[in-house]
Amino acid sequence: MVRCEKFASRRGNFNSDPVVRRNERRPCPRYIGLPRRSKNEPIDHRAYDGRIRFVILDRIGIVDRINNRRSWSQMRTLTGRGSDGAEKNKGYISHRQCTFQRDDELMSERANNNCATVAMIRHIYVHIPFCARICPYCAFYKDLLDRSETARFCEAILRDLDQQCAAFAIMPRSIYFGGGTPTALSTPQVEFLLGGFGQRLDLSALEEWTVEANPGSVSARKAASLRKLGVNRISLGVQSWDEDLLKLLGREHNAPQAEKSFQILRGAGFSNINVDLMFGLPGQTIEQWRVTLQKTIALQPEHISAYCLTYEEDTEFFLRQSRGEFRQDADIDAEFFETTMSILEDAGYEHYEISNYAHPGFSSRHNRAYWSGDDYLGIGPSAFSTVGMRRWQNLADYRAYADQVLSGQSPIGSRENLTKEMKRAERISLSLRTCEGVPAGLLTDRSKAIEEFIGLELLRQSNGHFMLTQKGKSLADSVAEALV
Ligand SMILES: C[S@@+](CC[C@H](N)C(=O)[O-])C[C@H]1O[C@@H](n2cnc3c(N)ncnc32)[C@H](O)[C@@H]1O
Ligand code: SF4
Repeated sequence: MVRCEKFASRRGNFNSDPVVRRNERRPCPRYIGLPRRSKNEPIDHRAYDGRIRFVILDRIGIVDRINNRRSWSQMRTLTGRGSDGAEKNKGYISHRQCTFQRDDELMSERANNNCATVAMIRHIYVHIPFCARICPYCAFYKDLLDRSETARFCEAILRDLDQQCAAFAIMPRSIYFGGGTPTALSTPQVEFLLGGFGQRLDLSALEEWTVEANPGSVSARKAASLRKLGVNRISLGVQSWDEDLLKLLGREHNAPQAEKSFQILRGAGFSNINVDLMFGLPGQTIEQWRVTLQKTIALQPEHISAYCLTYEEDTEFFLRQSRGEFRQDADIDAEFFETTMSILEDAGYEHYEISNYAHPGFSSRHNRAYWSGDDYLGIGPSAFSTVGMRRWQNLADYRAYADQVLSGQSPIGSRENLTKEMKRAERISLSLRTCEGVPAGLLTDRSKAIEEFIGLELLRQSNGHFMLTQKGKSLADSVAEALV
C-alpha cells in the first residue's frame, strides 16, 4: 500500500505571521529551527530533521523523503532529557573512565559508549548555522548571520571538538561542514576553525573534507584558504540557473555569480565540486529544468545533488502551499525525476543514490557513511551523533549551544537509545536508495515481498544485494515500506 508520509508528520504549530513577513523578522529558532516545545517532549524524528532530502515519487503522491545527513526509521521518537536512557544503559561500562568530569550528562552519554564495543569514530559532521539571507523554503536549522556572534561560536565549536576528542577515539575519514552556510564565516574565522580541526585531529586517514558553500559568499581568498587547510570537496548551492526561479527562491546570488563562484573554486584547485540543484519548484517547467541540468553539466562538476522541493513546515513556501498559491503535483515531480536520471546518466554521471549523481570515483564518502549505518559525531547546534546504539542531538539554538559548551556543560538537547530493529529498518531504508542496494542478509524474513517486487520489476538482485530497478526508483518508498 502506498502511503503519503510526507504530510503525516506535519504539526499544527505553524505560526504564519513572522514567516510571511520574512524580511521584517529576525529569525528565531521557533520558526526556523527544530520546533520542539520542551526538552522532554518526544520528537518526531522526521519532522524535526533539518537535513531532509528528497523525495521519491509514485503516481499517487510524494511518498518519501530522505535524510542525507542522518538516518531515520519509521516515525521514531527521540526522548529528551529525563528519559530512562541511563537506566537502559546501566550495563555499559565507561569507555575512558571519565577522562573529563565536568558534565554529568555529557559524561553519562559518552560513558555509555563502551570502549570494547565502540569502534574508532571515522566521520564528523559540523553544523554552521549562519546564513546571509533566509531562503523561504528552507527548514534547516539556521539563523541570520550576526558578525558579533560568529567568533564566540567558532570558539564553542572547537571546545565541543575538544570534548569529543576527550571522549572518543577519532581518526576521521570524512569531515563535513554543513549548515546553514559555512562560507558565511569570514576568511580569518574559517582559518581559525578549520585550522583548529587540523591541530586537534589526526587527519592522516582523511579521504574527504567537504565544506558547503553559497555562491554569494565564495571569494578567491576564502577558497584558497579552504584548499590550503585541507578541504578537498566543495558543495555549492546553485539551486537553479534560471534568474526568475533564483528570485522566487530568495537566493542571495544570481546565475552569473554562481558560475563565477564555481570558477573561483576551480581556480583555487578544487577538483571535487558538488552542485546542489532543486526541481519541482513553483512554476518551473521541464524545459527550464533541462536547461539547468545542461548548464550544470557544461561546467563539469564531479557531483550533482538534485533535490525535489519539499514544502517544509515553518517555511514561507509551506504557508504559500497551504494557501493554495503553490501546488505540488506528483506526476510532474515524477517527470522531473525521470528527466534528471536520463539527462545526468547520459552525461556520464552515475546515479548512486536517489538524489545524488557523480562521476565515477566521486560519490560522497561522508554521505555513503550515513547510508551504510556507520557511526558519526555531530558538532555544532542541532547536529546529530550516532555511536553504536546511542543517538543524540545538540541544542538547536546556537547561542544556547555556545553558552553550554563554553561553560563546560553538555550541549546535548535530546537523546535516544536505538534498538536493533530500528537500526535494521534504517539500514534497509537508506541502503535501498543507493545503487549498492540492501544486503540480502537483512531481508531474510521478507522473501514474499521481495519475490513480488522482483516480479513487478521494481527490485533486482546482484552480488548478494537487492537494489531498485530504474522503475523501482520512482516507487522506492512503497518498496521500503514493505521491507522494513
Ligand atoms: C543547507 S543547504 C546548504 C547550502 C547553502 N546553505 C545553500 O543554500 O547554498 C543544502 C541544500 O539543501 C537543499 N534544500 C534546502 N531546502 C530544501 C527543501 N525545502 N527542499 C529540497 N531541497 C532543499 C538545497 O539544494 C541546498 O543547497
Ligand atoms: S542559504 Fe542554504 S541553509 Fe541558508 S536558508 Fe538558504 S538554503 Fe537554507
